[in-house]
Amino acid sequence: MKNGFNMVNLIEIQRFPVFFGLKGKYIHLFLHLMNQENQFKKVIAHAKEYGFVFLSSEIYDGLSAVYDYGPNGVHLKNNIKDYWWKAMVQGYDQIVGIDSAIFMHPTTWKASGHVDSFNDPMIDNRDSKKRYRADELIENHLNKIRSKIEKEVLKARKRIGEQFDRDTFLSTNQRVGGHQKKIDSISHRLTSCLKRSDLVGLKNLIEELAITCQVSGTNNWTDVKQFNLMFETKLGADKQSASDLYLRPETAQGIFLNYLNVQKSARKKIPFGIAQIGKAFRNEIVARQFIFRMREFEQMEMQYFIEPKTQKHWFSYWKEARLKWHLALGLGDDYYRFHEHENLAHYADAATDIEFNYPFGFKELEGIHSRTGFDLTNHQKYSGKKITYFDPHTKQSYTPYVLETSIGLDRMFLAVYTSSLKEQKLSDGSTRIVFELPPCLAPVKLAILPLVNNEELVHFGNHLVEKFKWDLSHVFDAKDTIGKRYRRQDAIGTPFCITVDFDSLKDNSVTIRNRDTMDQERIHVEHLKQVITSKVDMNSLLKTL
Ligand code: GAP
Repeated sequence: MKNGFNMVNLIEIQRFPVFFGLKGKYIHLFLHLMNQENQFKKVIAHAKEYGFVFLSSEIYDGLSAVYDYGPNGVHLKNNIKDYWWKAMVQGYDQIVGIDSAIFMHPTTWKASGHVDSFNDPMIDNRDSKKRYRADELIENHLNKIRSKIEKEVLKARKRIGEQFDRDTFLSTNQRVGGHQKKIDSISHRLTSCLKRSDLVGLKNLIEELAITCQVSGTNNWTDVKQFNLMFETKLGADKQSASDLYLRPETAQGIFLNYLNVQKSARKKIPFGIAQIGKAFRNEIVARQFIFRMREFEQMEMQYFIEPKTQKHWFSYWKEARLKWHLALGLGDDYYRFHEHENLAHYADAATDIEFNYPFGFKELEGIHSRTGFDLTNHQKYSGKKITYFDPHTKQSYTPYVLETSIGLDRMFLAVYTSSLKEQKLSDGSTRIVFELPPCLAPVKLAILPLVNNEELVHFGNHLVEKFKWDLSHVFDAKDTIGKRYRRQDAIGTPFCITVDFDSLKDNSVTIRNRDTMDQERIHVEHLKQVITSKVDMNSLLKTL
């Protein structure tokens, strides 16, 4: 059990053990990392204070890597779901949705390969008793070498100035060449060990690279063991006869088992897609970084059923379409990058991640996987049922291939959260916390604020609540000074506040304040709905896709 908002437990970064003694070149990096850590600490504190995310079972000291969403969090989460669902199911004629059960027949997981292959290699440090994923220790080591290359780039850019050409520098600089060679050789060995499940090879690599535990600073490692990430449970009251079940580690299998039911009932022809949003469960070895890596989380997955041998085309199609969906939110293009996989999951012949630049660095936000015919072929084999698709044009039956897009809803929440939360210095020297959420995702679209807590103004405000309550999510707040109330709304990301004053009683107008610019304007009540919905409406964003 962890104490929920204790950052020392929650953030996983390359930390230098304090007793190492910080020297010269490390001090700069150390300060940078401390800054990142502080930034993330603020995000977590904000999420709790303003009712976005709470640690589950907090009064019992919490449950490790399990979180609850509060009143504002559930709105933000639902709005993200809405943005994804509309883009997929309303945006494409050939995509339909389903909601399949979390419990599935246990053979599902044998056929899908999860019983045998959904493992992570784990390793313990004997001195600190801390547990790690062996592959992540090596990946982190690789990232350290990559950051050495970036440092060389920075130095050279400073030295050479405007004429600096990154590609030429990377291909000609000797030191960079040396680092790159190391990266290639380590990556190659890592991939080969993972492919062959060579646990001894992984341990040898960790020892050869002199990787140490970030807590004890020693390399006193246990052997590497495989650890299956699925949670097991029982179906049935009688212990003897109850059957073993798994909590689903991905929503995708519910789509695979239903694909023919959906295809026939929705009268779809290949290519067509099935979308689903739902909970998934993984007993992660190392679950840190707040809601980034959870044991219970939500996925938004879409399986696109295609003709075999067309997977390359659809892989690049969905890579582009998904990146476009992300960029349209306007969080900033620099936050995203693709990361092509070398170590493929057991079902894939190609895979790429859309990575997001979180406060702890670039990490996977979404996966795009070419799953071939792996899943359907195996379900056919294990069930003994024919689940081929009949092509009405060619009059041939075949097992479709699948192109999958899979995004973690909680990771998307964290991406939106960390990139939108800002501390802003104002011209009068004060600071404000402003949550610059894309307006269509904001939990509250409109705050109705009587200037003072006066009966007539409150009555007028309540009348506005009645007028807008079915169109816009709103709050009504008459407590505290107007300045404090503006700050409260800025901090939860409310795009518009309207203030009711004594003039409103005469001219039926109110003052509307913009969250980002803090500009205020007088506006007639009859124009409010049109002005606000034109800014917070999700459809205008969806139309750009
Ligand atoms: N159906 C394919 C699949 O599940 P994955 O790459 O294992 O692929 C897809 O997971 C997405 O689910 C990831 O890109 C990530 O956003 C999210 N995800 C995976 N494990 C997670 C965890 N422990 N906590 C939160 N999100 C997770």
